[in-house]
Amino acid sequence: MCLRLFCILLAAVSGAQGWGYYGCDEELVGPLYYRSLGASSYYGLFTAPRFARLHGISGWSPRTGDPNPWLQIDLMKKHRIRAVATQGSFNSWDWVTRYMLLYGDRVDSWTPFYQQGHNATFFGNVNESAVVRHDLHYHFTARYIRIVPLAWNPRGKIGLRLGLYGCPYKSDVLYFDGDDAISYRFPRGVSQSLWDVFAFSFKTEEKDGLLLHAEGAQGDYVTLELQGAHLLLHMSLGSSPIQPRPGHTTVSAGGVLNDQHWHYVRVDRYGRQANLTLDGYVQRFILNGDFERLNLDNEMFIGGLVGAQKNLAYRHNFRGCMENVIFNRVNIADLAVRRHSRITFEGKVAFRCLDPVPHPVNFGGPHNFLQVPGFPRRGRLAVSFRFRTWDLTGLLLYSSPSPKPSPSPWPWLPGPKPTPDPGGVQI
Ligand SMILES: *[C@@H]1O[C@H](CO)[C@@H](O)[C@H](O)[C@H]1NC(C)=O
Ligand SMILES: *[C@@H]1O[C@H](CO)[C@@H](O)[C@H](O)[C@H]1NC(C)=O
Ligand SMILES: *[C@@H]1O[C@H](CO)[C@@H](O)[C@H](O)[C@H]1NC(C)=O
Repeated sequence: MCLRLFCILLAAVSGAQGWGYYGCDEELVGPLYYRSLGASSYYGLFTAPRFARLHGISGWSPRTGDPNPWLQIDLMKKHRIRAVATQGSFNSWDWVTRYMLLYGDRVDSWTPFYQQGHNATFFGNVNESAVVRHDLHYHFTARYIRIVPLAWNPRGKIGLRLGLYGCPYKSDVLYFDGDDAISYRFPRGVSQSLWDVFAFSFKTEEKDGLLLHAEGAQGDYVTLELQGAHLLLHMSLGSSPIQPRPGHTTVSAGGVLNDQHWHYVRVDRYGRQANLTLDGYVQRFILNGDFERLNLDNEMFIGGLVGAQKNLAYRHNFRGCMENVIFNRVNIADLAVRRHSRITFEGKVAFRCLDPVPHPVNFGGPHNFLQVPGFPRRGRLAVSFRFRTWDLTGLLLYSSPSPKPSPSPWPWLPGPKPTPDPGGVQI
């Protein structure tokens, strides 16, 4: 038997997550104006990027010898993307067998999409006609999408028709400069809940900062912060002198989160059971202590504390952008943008993301690499970069002594394969 109330509540909670939206599955490339489809180059008039729509009359092909071909879609505003589909060029030998998917809010800053197992390579097509769709194991949001072909039918060339599935995404952004913060006052002065959802995205260059904090008189608290570029969740459902078990729980996730890319965080709690989700990776855990309810007093802080005498030890304020800050169906960022009376501001919180330049490149997993065209027959090479990493070993740069171009980037390496680390390198 279905417990009706339970089902309704569940639907309400999953609506609040803004995640896995029911029905968010429109094909987005088909209806776009032709200027939204761009590419590094194209082969001829009938293989221009505007033909890169599913079931179209040809398909996109880059110029022969384009060293770094890509197809780019401008969705004109931010969308939630849940699936990608590819097809070869109509009635041809041209199709892409492997590709990478990059996304971003700007054309000069790209995040690769990693599939489960941290592999950024998608399988493409095996013939020109069949549409091959990949449902993404987590949804991302972006205005710009780039497809980078990595391999194609050896008997033809690169040929691509593309579909993206998702829906428009309303984005309320808060930008914190490191001195500012906001507070959200609870409607009834307190917030008591058996289950909660905390969700937001953030983007920063800093490795430390307080993202969210709230606490209650009975010793309950919830804190989400960055420490050493890791995400930490501290939570307690309360403790009392007569309770034998302390309520404090800390869970950590991620690494190198200060890479100037959006990261999506979500905490789902029901009683003492909780899930911490970071960019699609879910950690399940049980909260310590004996209580089931989270009792918070008065207000919740975002980005730092506001005029507070709180129990929290000194923390750096957050510096960077936060988007769609949701606490139990209330979008605090939306309230802030509308200057709602429940929001108190400290400092100059801005409502658009101010990106610093230049942007780092993040190598988040093993076998991730960038290959750049060389300068054949030149005797000298000068390269400079700054990097940081959590790993002790990893290949940073390699250049072939042979001027002969090779389809594989590591054909000359002796010994163990280069594995730039699950933790990530930033250049
Ligand atoms: C990544 O996936 C591609 C195709 O999906 C596969 O060919 C490749 O071997 C995978 N790489 C790793 C390191 O798993
Ligand atoms: C194309 O490949 C798909 C598998 O991806 C297959 O089901 C289909 O029959 C193939 N079509 C043709 C015309 O070979
Ligand atoms: C945590 O996630 C699992 C599935 O990954 C789900 O079954 C469970 O209900 C979730 N717990 C909460 C508290 O949302």
